Amino acid sequence: MTTAICPGSFDPVTNGHLDIIERTAAIFDKVIVAVLENPSKEPLFTAAERRRLLQEVVAHLPNVEVEYFQGLLVDYAKKKGAKVIVKGLRAISDFESEFQMALTNKKMSPEIETMFMMTANEYSFLSSSMVKELVFFGGNPEEFVPPLVAAALEEKLKHRRSGK
Ligand code: PNS
Repeated sequence: MTTAICPGSFDPVTNGHLDIIERTAAIFDKVIVAVLENPSKEPLFTAAERRRLLQEVVAHLPNVEVEYFQGLLVDYAKKKGAKVIVKGLRAISDFESEFQMALTNKKMSPEIETMFMMTANEYSFLSSSMVKELVFFGGNPEEFVPPLVAAALEEKLKHRRSGK
């Protein structure tokens, strides 16, 4: 059985993430979506909230599970017996940081491969940060995130907007 890990901060999950997870689930026997901390980002949603939103949006995929892990991605992959990390790659903007992370991970754990999947054209511009900004300023995110994520964003950001 081949297990792949789809890691990310998922703050929150977008339709672009979901597209990558669905396509990965069609290739590998089992997919673990790993909610991890990105030390260069301050998350809007707690780890438990990010995990719950993901669990709901991947509920239709029987070979996908969602977990939270604090620590190095390669340590988590080893713990889970996964030899493949799958990441989505958007346009040019992601390349440099993804290249650095993939090579650092390879140096630490040569037995684990990172594979990149190009985002679908319609999601190539999409990011969690952009969706958060859009909702913060009153925009409608329904084309970019699943409905329950749109509701969670609205709930979370209305307090910020009103300064509470
Ligand atoms: O969705 P993101 O924020 O681009 O995901 C980045 C993430 C969380 C996958 C990355 O920061 C990560 O792997 N964090 C765990 C710590 C780690 O292993 N860092 C990379 C090697 S130093």
